[in-house]
Amino acid sequence: MASNWEEFYSSHPQPANLSKNEDLLRDFTARHLNGDTRVVLVTSGGTTVPLEHNTVRFVDNFSAGTRGSASTEYFLDHGYAVVFMHRVKSLQPFSRHFTGQKFLNMLDLIETKDGTSVTVTSENIPKIADVLRKYKSALANGKLLELSFTTVYEYLWLLRSACQILAPLKEKCILYLAAAVSDFYIPPNEMSVHKIASTKPQTISLQLVPKILAPLVSLWVPNAFVVSFKLETNKDLLIDKAREALNKYKHKLVIANMLQNYRQKVTLVTQQSSYVIELTTEQSRIGEEIEMYIVKNIVDKHEEFIADRSGRS
Ligand code: PMT
Repeated sequence: MASNWEEFYSSHPQPANLSKNEDLLRDFTARHLNGDTRVVLVTSGGTTVPLEHNTVRFVDNFSAGTRGSASTEYFLDHGYAVVFMHRVKSLQPFSRHFTGQKFLNMLDLIETKDGTSVTVTSENIPKIADVLRKYKSALANGKLLELSFTTVYEYLWLLRSACQILAPLKEKCILYLAAAVSDFYIPPNEMSVHKIASTKPQTISLQLVPKILAPLVSLWVPNAFVVSFKLETNKDLLIDKAREALNKYKHKLVIANMLQNYRQKVTLVTQQSSYVIELTTEQSRIGEEIEMYIVKNIVDKHEEFIADRSGRS
């Protein structure tokens, strides 16, 4: 079992696409290093833990990617450049508005003797145009880099590389760790190579994944503004757990949320204070998203953090 994060990395080979992702991250960082644009790394979606090397089964973590993908759009609205690090097939910024049958329902099929054409129904043009305009603009201005992971190993390798490459941005950079990261895993030498036979009941022993916030805050991005999330199901534990994380890792902010109502209510916990952001029934009814308010809060806090740092230097 890996007893710490260094051992964890040394016992899991780096993913095949890591070098390519590192090149993309280097280009992105170089583009934003000297200008005024602020940068945020958003992690989003759940990581998996495979049960077999040739994986048929895996343990998954709860997360559709709504928090991360919606927040990415609001950070872009505030002028930030975003690295969106997400689980394969989880929600992505912009395209999230057109998932499932929604997109097909926005189209008209026109068949005449001269041929077939597909158009957007007139009432949907404003919505599609609005989303498309923002998406194209983010790409054209080099403000959106999307990278993906599936397993907790791919996530941890990519996260470390991303942090190390973004580190020169110093206080201009936010880490917004909304992904739901596996806490337990099966060490590679204990994992079955092939599909586990379904001939008898199985007992699976899971080891603890080292908490990666520790090296992240103290070693990889010591000057960045780090925001982590805390998901609980027992409300009596939520704020204590968030404070525990702040005291242990010494980062800037924990956004605490309950599985039961995380789309409507979060508590922002800092070393000094804690306060609630909650959507009213009316705000939910008209489709407002809590991420708009979360991101506005983070952007304000980031501004204070940068002012404080430049006042000290
Ligand atoms: O995507 P949605 O469906 O919208 O859901 C959003 C969400 C509920 C997943 C999101 O709001 C959220 O709470 N994300 C964090 C969930 C989580 O993993 O909580 P945790 O208590 O297991 O971890 C707390 C923090 O420790 C996380 O910021 C994580 O980055 C970090 N961590 C976790 C495991 C690990 N081995 N190392 C870590 O550093």
